[in-house]
Amino acid sequence: MEIKVKILRFNPETDKRPHYQTFRVEAEPTDRVLDLLEKIKGYQDGSLAFRRSCAHGICGSDAMRINGMNRLACKTLVKDLSKGTITVEPLLGLSLIKDLIVDMDPFFEHYESVMPYLVNDEPPPLKERLQSPEERERFDDTTKCILCAACTTSCPSFWSNGRYVGPAAIVNAHRFIFDSRDRAGAERLRILSDQFGVYRCHTIFNCTLACPREIQITKAIGEIKRAIATGSLD
Ligand code: SF4
Ligand code: F3S
Ligand code: FES
Repeated sequence: MEIKVKILRFNPETDKRPHYQTFRVEAEPTDRVLDLLEKIKGYQDGSLAFRRSCAHGICGSDAMRINGMNRLACKTLVKDLSKGTITVEPLLGLSLIKDLIVDMDPFFEHYESVMPYLVNDEPPPLKERLQSPEERERFDDTTKCILCAACTTSCPSFWSNGRYVGPAAIVNAHRFIFDSRDRAGAERLRILSDQFGVYRCHTIFNCTLACPREIQITKAIGEIKRAIATGSLD
């Protein structure tokens, strides 16, 4: 079947502002939106710019707005979208570089700000630092993040103020705050309790709906708010 794909285009060298361009593509219902973009780039317009790497929902590089919702192009099948033209646009809230490519630097700066790594200066045991299955379960959900930015760039609080650390950074802080082997939880809670931390979240839930890994993001943010309020991780 033939499908119309309407893409927001922007070339900083020639365009004053972004504009839409519509392509007609032969597609199967089981094609992914990434397949359509590859066909357009390969056979119709080699200048089309978008990020992708793994094509299997692992690397997180091809998050974009597809029919108005943040999704991974490599995980979105044509047959799962409403019939008619498929509209593809770059993520909101980050500066546009070219076509579907946005500047991810502010996103990763927020990520780095929450210390997304294990901190433990105690002498290591002879073997590994042990952890029970129950302790591991406490942060299992937030280990699944692939840093695609679909959550942060769907959050109205982030759109209104890009200094908000955003749900992706909070998810990755949660992953370590609730890890029984880590010793920097209090420091991360202090970072997240400042004016651009968790209290910028107004429980809008867009982040949870957008996450391709189905992480319960709003729940994780709530757990961090509770930990800050009570001073306890229980
Ligand atoms: Fe992407 Fe989900 Fe991680 Fe947000 S929490 S960056 S939506 S994988
Ligand atoms: Fe934004 Fe998600 Fe909170 S959309 S306001 S971070 S629940
Ligand atoms: Fe890697 Fe889609 S290309 S997640």
